[in-house]
Amino acid sequence: MFAAAILTVSDKGARGEREDRSGQVIRDLLGVLPCHIARYEVVPDERPLIAVRLREWADAGGLDLIVTTGGTGLAPRDVTPEATLDVVERLVPGLAEAMRAESLKKTPMAMLSRMVAGVRGRTLIVNLPGSPKAVQECLEAILPALPHGLATLRGSVGDHAPAEPPTGA
Ligand code: MTE
Repeated sequence: MFAAAILTVSDKGARGEREDRSGQVIRDLLGVLPCHIARYEVVPDERPLIAVRLREWADAGGLDLIVTTGGTGLAPRDVTPEATLDVVERLVPGLAEAMRAESLKKTPMAMLSRMVAGVRGRTLIVNLPGSPKAVQECLEAILPALPHGLATLRGSVGDHAPAEPPTGA
């Protein structure tokens, strides 16, 4: 069982003016891993606030995965990737590449998300765009690789031994 956290980045959400449907989509999709949601918060689009929360959660230990949603686009207040780059120690470019590649099959707007993924300590941090539809499409693209990635990060499998048999092959 993996432990995950959801950080929803939204000015309106943080003010209580928007229901967090994207957070719920993440919760539902991660439920298939298996994975339990240990932490959840909605923060405004403020780079220091986002970075502080990511750092706190990763450094507290016990979290395998932090998924953010929102703030990855081109609007002036979209700063989630910058906050993530402030805290990660190693990038995992393939996750963002896979999400963009899959998403581009559905909409050209996918190229507008600047989402990144990386590792801090033993925690994988993955950005997702803000809309529930985008969250679903992006998370579904990386879900098959997450168990092996998270198990490897924990040190519980070798680099080349799949944690789970490949699905859908
Ligand atoms: N990715 C997928 N799979 N599906 C989508 O509908 N929307 C795009 C993009 N990525 C989209 C997507 C749009 S319209 C934007 S503006 C960017 O994500 C950034 O979204 P964000 O600012 O809410 O993070």
